Amino acid sequence: MYNLTIIPGDGIGVEVTEAGEYLLDKLDLNFSLTHARAGYDCYNDTGKTLPEETIKKAKKSDAILFGASTSTPGQPSPIIRLRKELNTYGNIRPIKSYKGVKSLYDNIDIIIVRENTEGLYSQNEYMRGDEIIAERVITRKASEKISEMAFETCKLFKKNKVTCVHKNNVLKLTDGVFKESFYKIGEKYPNIEKNDYYVDAAAMYMITQPQEYEVIVATNLFGDILSDEGAGLVGGLGLAPSGNIGAEHGLFEPVHGSAPDIAGKNIANPCAMILSISLMLNYLKEYKIAENVDKAVQKVLEKGKVKTPDLGGNASTMEMTKEIIKEL
Ligand code: NAI
Ligand code: MG
Repeated sequence: MYNLTIIPGDGIGVEVTEAGEYLLDKLDLNFSLTHARAGYDCYNDTGKTLPEETIKKAKKSDAILFGASTSTPGQPSPIIRLRKELNTYGNIRPIKSYKGVKSLYDNIDIIIVRENTEGLYSQNEYMRGDEIIAERVITRKASEKISEMAFETCKLFKKNKVTCVHKNNVLKLTDGVFKESFYKIGEKYPNIEKNDYYVDAAAMYMITQPQEYEVIVATNLFGDILSDEGAGLVGGLGLAPSGNIGAEHGLFEPVHGSAPDIAGKNIANPCAMILSISLMLNYLKEYKIAENVDKAVQKVLEKGKVKTPDLGGNASTMEMTKEIIKEL
């Protein structure tokens, strides 16, 4: 029995979470689900984008599913705060091309492991006269931990190579430490191939030869940018899942936001959420069921008969979800 906290958020966050719960219910596993609130609608009702009660529930559960939330003017982002509260120091984002979905190439299978706590996201900006400064904090500790997560992810998903992405020709100190930490931790993984690229070249190779990548490990901002570049390469946000993982907690969420343009229409693509559930199942060590969920999504995409409008079809969120469940 797993205790899950479900945080739908608002907009299509609610719709894809409902689809995700429907699928969870059909799996051969026992879950106890607790719902919690966050986001824009929550702020309008409670005055908070992330109530303490939500954090408490999240901390007590085995894993957390988050839908999406619309940003609230002048209020902190609930998901950024939640990642901090739970100390989920790594963000995992698979980038995969699927048969039946338009993609620049048909054999892309990359996992990006992004440092999730520091770098340019330390959110420490200040003024010094005319200069406006954003601190970019890199620590040896966080760099080693994220490298370790990248090598472990490489092993878990049966891949053979990890590429470190940095800019240490310019950022000699900070990215020097990041790159050094990568090769130091890499010594513990003699069977895994290692290489490294400057981020600008890495971004180009992502377009010209993405098949060369297996696992990429990067600092926070570089990882963020490469992840969206990757999502664009293979069929868009409706298919992009992610996991935020730390020593004690795992928080899983589609990469997309609340999509106000299609919210309430029941046409959001449920795949990003369902693939996030697969990542969650891997985290819970339910490897076989995770693989089955992935395969069911792949089959439905390949058949191409039941798909949401973003993929060129006319199915609803629930119709596509049910089709995926049929393949399980
Ligand atoms: P978005 O990801 O919500 O939407 C971008 C575009 O992709 C839209 O055209 C949308 O219709 C489409 N799209 C996204 N997910 C889809 C799905 N599952 N199926 C079909 N189409 C999909 O990004 P946007 O428009 O920049 O942001 C909207 C709101 O969401 C903003 O308030 C933003 O701050 C918030 N946001 C929240 C995130 C989170 O909660 N983790 C992440 C990103 C944005
Ligand atoms: Mg992003």
